[in-house]
Amino acid sequence: MTQMTGANSPGLPDADTVDASIKLVTDNAARVFVWNYERDRDQLVTLYNKGMASQWNSVTDLDWSIDVDPERVVATSTQPNATVEMARASADEPGSPFAKWTDKEYTQLGVESLTAQLSQFMHGEQGAMIVAAKIVETVPWIDAKYYASTQTMDEARHTEVFAKYLHTKLGDAYPMSPFLDRQINDLMEDSRWDIAYLGMQIVIESLALAAFGTMIRSTEEPLLRRLLRYVMADEARHVAFGVLSLAEYYENLTSAELMDRQEFLADNTIRNRTRSTTPEIWERMGVPLEDAKTALRAGAEKLDMPLFGGFMAAFFSKLVPNVRKLGLLDANDGHLRRLWGDVGLMQFEFAADTASDYETYDAVAQDRSSRVD
Ligand SMILES: [Fe+2]
Ligand SMILES: [Fe+2]
Repeated sequence: MTQMTGANSPGLPDADTVDASIKLVTDNAARVFVWNYERDRDQLVTLYNKGMASQWNSVTDLDWSIDVDPERVVATSTQPNATVEMARASADEPGSPFAKWTDKEYTQLGVESLTAQLSQFMHGEQGAMIVAAKIVETVPWIDAKYYASTQTMDEARHTEVFAKYLHTKLGDAYPMSPFLDRQINDLMEDSRWDIAYLGMQIVIESLALAAFGTMIRSTEEPLLRRLLRYVMADEARHVAFGVLSLAEYYENLTSAELMDRQEFLADNTIRNRTRSTTPEIWERMGVPLEDAKTALRAGAEKLDMPLFGGFMAAFFSKLVPNVRKLGLLDANDGHLRRLWGDVGLMQFEFAADTASDYETYDAVAQDRSSRVD
């Protein structure tokens, strides 16, 4: 997979000579050096102090000696994997590629789906590390630069632990899904510093909190559970950082500028409904992609899966209240409230928002206070 953009910066190889193991992206935002070192954003100071105190150690705080049996992880999952369920439901449809499958193949599909999901977490975390570093460079407030620096370290740890879990416990990672790739790529290129914030801290971090939460509720595997609890503790702070910073910044934007941000959110939620899929799963399972897609569609229809069930409900329960805090629901005569209302998303408006509930996620502090030394 070779993807390249803007590969002509001095010191970097020419686009044509870059190998497939890296991808180049050109950032169009200006770097900002600030001369005002005044610590005048109290909530960000608190969050930064909290970020420093809650750093955990990926080597010593997780027990990597735990033996993981991927098939057992799938078999003991309390929530059936949606892809496996759709495949099973379509098995008796005419021409279904799953007609002859037995439990063995469905378990294998479960393992591949888990591997694909953790691979997307790993790539997404690297994207978060790069975008957090971009925020360090581009945000014009010293307190935000400090905080984003701790976040960059957090995201390094997240990338590292997902990579290690895949490498030592599961198997070969999958490439980044085209959907996630495009989403993060756009944030890395954007010239406006707050769009990196809005896209990463509000949209993708909310998505990650929902995805990790859904996984933690469904698995009994102790290493994965602890790893996810610790990652979520960090992510909840990251979302809070986004809400606190952007609520201040958006107070002073014009209606036209706010409209751009409302449209950005509509694009990232209701207009772009492409799910983050990993087509390579079907290669490994020996099923032609188009056959798999057709069968899964039929399976989904048969199961009558709710539009905002499970994971999607968890995502919008995080996203909508956070966006409300930014004032983006009601700006421009409720433009976004109307758009989201039309597709039923306003039911999530008053779910718990992560600007205030991040303390409840602090698994690191909880474990430290219960430790008897
Ligand atoms: Fe992360
Ligand atoms: Fe994060």
